[in-house]
Amino acid sequence: MRLNSSFLHRAGGIGVVVVGTLLGILSCLGAGQPGGEVAKPPSQTPKVRKGDLKPVPESAQPAASHAPFETGDCQLCHQRADPANPGPVTKAGNGLCFDCHEEFPEIMARKFGHVAASESCLSCHNPHNSKEPKLLLEKASALCFACHPSIQDLAEKSPVKHGAMSEGAQCMSCHNAHSANVEHLLIQMPRELCLSCHNKEGLTDAKGKKLPNTQHEFEEKPQLHGALGFGDCSACHNPHGFQHFRLLNKEYPAEFYASYNPKVYALCFECHEAGAFTEAETDTLTQFRDGLRNLHRLHVNKEELGRTCRACHEVHSSKLPHLIRESVPFGSLGWRLKVNFTDTPTGGVCAKTCHGARTYNNSGVPSVAPVVPVVPAAPVVPAAPTAGVATPAAPTPPAAAVKKE
Ligand code: HEC
Ligand code: HEC
Ligand code: HEC
Ligand code: HEC
Ligand code: HEC
Ligand code: HEC
Ligand code: HEC
Ligand code: HEC
Ligand code: HEC
Repeated sequence: MRLNSSFLHRAGGIGVVVVGTLLGILSCLGAGQPGGEVAKPPSQTPKVRKGDLKPVPESAQPAASHAPFETGDCQLCHQRADPANPGPVTKAGNGLCFDCHEEFPEIMARKFGHVAASESCLSCHNPHNSKEPKLLLEKASALCFACHPSIQDLAEKSPVKHGAMSEGAQCMSCHNAHSANVEHLLIQMPRELCLSCHNKEGLTDAKGKKLPNTQHEFEEKPQLHGALGFGDCSACHNPHGFQHFRLLNKEYPAEFYASYNPKVYALCFECHEAGAFTEAETDTLTQFRDGLRNLHRLHVNKEELGRTCRACHEVHSSKLPHLIRESVPFGSLGWRLKVNFTDTPTGGVCAKTCHGARTYNNSGVPSVAPVVPVVPAAPVVPAAPTAGVATPAAPTPPAAAVKKE
């Protein structure tokens, strides 16, 4: 099993993760990365950028004019008051600005500072006037793109684009250009940030398909996916744009059915054990089994009409255990087919759904297949190649007692 390093890095609240996951994380850390630190290549991002800092002529009708320039007091920054020949500035660096913007040293001392701003205010602002609001040298996103070309590529070339990048305040809907108390210069904690827009009906994707109100979904369905335990959305989504369905970081099918191939579930298999969908019989890889018979494989691993995870699971949160969904949309009339899942101490029951009531028993006594003697599950050690995120933690009780929360 693999857990990506960014996921580990996010695991600030590691205590919320069940022990099985923790073991998985540790086993992953063992792979030659002491302390989980990955050496970062030196940054290629320029720290300063020289724009045209001359005053914009009146004829160009500047949209913003800096108060000390507007009043003609060139000597506040330059050596002379003479507008025709003000001479050099009296101070190099941001100190010139901090003389009047006394709040700024404090702003720049927030937990995460933007290197560009601590290096030079003049990379983005004209000290005199500008055709753009806030004395910006160029349109805000063009300014950002000049130093962050990889973000520009994502925003403009991605097959799946994110409206947040082109609408409203664009970059500044999520980032503060100067500094922030949240990592990556975010203006709010990631979850609140995303929900500040995804809190309404009526958002649609590029094909006009309605997107659910994500905030409402979280309120209605309180049992969070473990991947969301840290309130992070970037574990699965790229907010700037991406090549995969729904801005997902890795591949995941867009449709209800998919021909099985581990590649199309790369997103889920980044954290969950792919073996849970390939082995016909198992007593460790999954609890969705009847005796040894692997029901995950049975439903998902098909050449034709393989059920995708969404046939049974929610991905953000759910009302039912194991992220099982209450119903699935069926047909074009808006009708929802109930899943009617009941969690039992020895497995579960799905009734009046895609099929009649079926019970599965993962306690060692299969309910629909002949009784197979079940060997107690081997204790899961961190390095065990079969240890999936949701595999019960060591020491593993005999299979008869296995029941995870
Ligand atoms: C708030 C501070 C501030 C005020 C007030 C100000 N300037 Fe400047 N000015 C600067 C800075 C900073 C630079 C860039 C200096 C550098 O590039 O080293 C600059 C550069 C210039 C330049 C361009 C010089 C060059 O070589 O490109 C001109 C022209 C200029 N200022 C004219 C004026 C005039 C005229 C006034 C008054 C009407 C004025 N400035 C008021 C801060 C100010
Ligand atoms: C002599 C005092 C003074 C200096 C020096 C000064 N500012 Fe200002 N600045 C002001 C005042 C006054 C305002 C307008 C009041 C306000 O909006 O807070 C202002 C507003 C601004 C704004 C907002 C403009 C808008 O349209 O909303 C920016 C951006 C700005 N300053 C940047 C700078 C930068 C960058 C420097 C250093 C190169 C600097 N200031 C130096 C006095 C100064
Ligand atoms: C990376 C680009 C960038 C740099 C560098 C930068 N700013 Fe800004 N600044 C912005 C943007 C973008 C805005 C407009 C923010 C918005 O609309 O939310 C802004 C707004 C401002 C404002 C107006 C704030 C307001 O609430 O209206 C001031 C004042 C200001 N900057 C001062 C500074 C000072 C002082 C520095 C240097 C310490 C600096 N900026 C460096 C991008 C930058
Ligand atoms: C003059 C170049 C420059 C400009 C312009 C600039 N940045 Fe940056 N930015 C940097 C540098 C340098 C870093 C430090 C990180 C690095 O080296 O990659 C950085 C870091 C960041 C980070 C934090 C990365 C992290 O993971 O912590 C964000 C977010 C960011 N910039 C957003 C913006 C936005 C939004 C704008 C436009 C308002 C902008 N930048 C404009 C140079 C710039
Ligand atoms: C400023 C508003 C805004 C913010 C903040 C925002 N979004 Fe969005 N998002 C939108 C809009 C508008 C759409 C509708 C489709 C489109 O235009 O891309 C959308 C669509 C999406 C989609 C579906 C994309 C598709 O076309 O399939 C995903 C996934 C998404 N957002 C995730 C996020 C995540 C994760 C965050 C937080 C990092 C976030 N959003 C923050 C405005 C926002
Ligand atoms: C919908 C919210 C949202 C918008 C809009 C947005 N970002 Fe980001 N950005 C994020 C989040 C969330 C992260 C942290 C990603 C992570 O945790 O890996 C981030 C990270 C970054 C980083 C550092 C990490 C990286 O991927 O290189 C940079 C630089 C950055 N953003 C620049 C920008 C620029 C430039 C814009 C505007 C063109 C922009 N962002 C618009 C949410 C947003
Ligand atoms: C474990 C991975 C994962 C995490 C973490 C995650 N998402 Fe998603 N998200 C998905 C998947 C998968 C879909 C596609 C669902 C589908 O169509 O079946 C999706 C879809 C979406 C959509 C499109 C509307 C919808 O529900 O289909 C939005 C908006 C969204 N996510 C926002 C968020 C926000 C906000 C967060 C953080 C609070 C977040 N996601 C965290 C995997 C994730
Ligand atoms: C036919 C319905 C169905 C489908 C399709 C399905 N699951 Fe499950 N899954 C379940 C049930 C039921 C459980 C609860 C098992 C139990 O009783 O603990 C479960 C449990 C899980 C667990 C917990 C660990 C385990 O295996 O016991 C994970 C992780 C999981 N599913 C991931 C997935 C992924 C990823 C997909 C798509 C590749 C998927 N599931 C497709 C029904 C399904
Ligand atoms: C970033 C890592 C990560 C990704 C990506 C991820 N998960 Fe998870 N998932 C977790 C963690 C952590 C848990 C909680 C551990 C546990 O319950 O054993 C979990 C739990 C689950 C559970 C509930 C298990 C139970 O029995 O309660 C299901 C179902 C599940 N994930 C399905 C999926 C599906 C489907 C995908 C792909 C769309 C996916 N996960 C992608 C990390 C992830």
